[in-house]
Amino acid sequence: MIRGAAAALLALAASVAAALDFDPAERAAILSHGPWPPAPTADTSNRVAGHAAAIALGARLFFDGRLSADGRVSCASCHDPARHFQDGRATAVGRAVGTRNTPSVIDSGGQRWYGWDGASDSLWAASLRAMMQPGEMGGTPATAAALVRGDPTVREAYRATFGAPGADDERVQVDLAKALAAWLTTRVSPRTAFDDFRDAMERGDEAAAARYPEAAQRGLRLFVGEARCNTCHAGPRFSNGEFADIGLPFFLPGGGVDPGRHAGLRALKGNPFNRLGRFADDGGAGAVATRHVQAEHRNFGEFKVPTLRGLAHTAPYMHHGRLPALDDVLRHYNLIDEERLHADGARLLRPLGLSAAQLADLRAFLLSLSEPLPSQATPGAPHVGAKGGPGGGASPSGPAR
Ligand code: HEC
Ligand code: HEC
Repeated sequence: MIRGAAAALLALAASVAAALDFDPAERAAILSHGPWPPAPTADTSNRVAGHAAAIALGARLFFDGRLSADGRVSCASCHDPARHFQDGRATAVGRAVGTRNTPSVIDSGGQRWYGWDGASDSLWAASLRAMMQPGEMGGTPATAAALVRGDPTVREAYRATFGAPGADDERVQVDLAKALAAWLTTRVSPRTAFDDFRDAMERGDEAAAARYPEAAQRGLRLFVGEARCNTCHAGPRFSNGEFADIGLPFFLPGGGVDPGRHAGLRALKGNPFNRLGRFADDGGAGAVATRHVQAEHRNFGEFKVPTLRGLAHTAPYMHHGRLPALDDVLRHYNLIDEERLHADGARLLRPLGLSAAQLADLRAFLLSLSEPLPSQATPGAPHVGAKGGPGGGASPSGPAR
C-alpha cells in the first residue's frame, strides 16, 4: 500500500519535472552560451592550422620531452590529457616551481589572448612561450632543431608539414609550435548536460529540457541574472576572452607581486613572436588588436577570464591556484571584498549575499558544464566534436605552402 503510494508520488514527480519558465531575456542569455562545439575558427597567422600533417606532428610533439632542455618535461607533463589538459597542482612544476596555475588547453583554439596575463596573441606563440620558458621546459631553437634533424621520424613529419628544414633554427622551433597549435585546435571538450538543455530550449523540446535537473536550472537563472556571472563568463566558452580584476590578492608567497595583464601587455608588445613579427604568416594582417592595445593603470591585477567548461576537473582554481575547491570560489564571489577591487571590476562585482540554497544551485549549474573524462586519457582517442585528430591526421598532406 505504502509502496504503491510512493510509486505513484514518484511518477507524479517525474511527470511534473519541467523546465523553469525562463523569460525572453533569460532565454536569450542562455542560448548565447552555445551551440557546442563551436564552429572551428581559422588562425591566419599559422599557415599550417587545419593541415592534417601538422596536426599529426603536433600530436606527437605534445608528448615529447625532447623539446625541453633536459629531455624530461613535455607539454603533457603539465597539460595532462587524463586531467582535462592540466595538472591538478596549485602552481605548475616544470624545471622549477612556477607562480601560476596551469590552465587547461582543451578548447584553446580561437582565443584572442593567451596566458593568464595575455602575454601571447596566438596559440602558437603561447605554445612557444611554454617551450622556451626556463622554469617550464627551457627549450631553445637549438633543442628544437636537434630534435628535427636528429630523429628520422620527426624529420619526416616536419618535412611533410613544412618542407625541408632550413638553416634558421629559430624558424624550425616556431614551426614546431605551429604544429602543436594545429593539434591543440582539434582538442574540443565533450558536450555536457547544459548543452543538451540549451539545445532543447532552442528547439522548444520541453520534454528534453525537463531532463536537466531543476537545481541546475535555478543555478543557471542566477548565473545569467542576479549573480551576473555571464558579464565576464560569456558565450559558448563561458569567457569573454578579456581580463578582469576580481579582488584576489596578487602578492606572491615569496614576496613581490604578480601584476597580471599590466605586465602581460608589455611582454606582448616586446615579443618578437607576436602577430606583428616576422613569424606571423599573414604579414601582420590579423594583428589589429596587438597593435592598438596599451597597458593602462587599471590592467594591474587583471587576469584572463577563464573558461568554466570542465570545471569539475580543473581544481585548484584561479591564476595562482590558491582556491582549492569550487565552494571556495563561490564563497569568494559571495563575500567579495569591494575595497580590493579596482574601479572597473567594482562596477561589475559586488558581494552577492546568496543563501546556502542558492549557492548549492549555482554549484549544481557549474558542475553541469563538465562531463566525465571518458576517452580523453588516451592521446589520439576521438573527442566528441573534435574535428580531425592525430589519428585522422596520419596521412601527410604534403608540404603546406
Ligand atoms: C611546467 C608546466 C608546463 C609545461 C611543461 C607547459 N605548460 Fe603550457 N602553461 C603552463 C602554465 C603555468 C600556463 C599559464 C602561463 C601564464 O599565464 O603565464 C600555461 C599556458 C599555456 C597556454 C595558454 C592557455 C590559455 O588558454 O591561455 C598554452 C596554449 C599552453 N600553455 C600550451 C603549452 C604547450 C603546447 C606546451 C608544450 C610545448 C606547454 N604548454 C608546456 C604550464 C606548462
Ligand atoms: C568581472 C568579471 C567576472 C565576473 C562578473 C565573474 N567572474 Fe569568475 N572569473 C573572472 C576572472 C578574471 C577569473 C580569474 C581570476 C584570477 O585568476 O585572478 C575568474 C575565475 C573564476 C573561476 C575559476 C576558474 C578556474 O579555472 O580557475 C570560477 C569557477 C568562476 N570565475 C566562476 C564565476 C561565477 C560563478 C561568477 C558569478 C557569481 C563569476 N565567476 C563572475 C571574472 C569574472
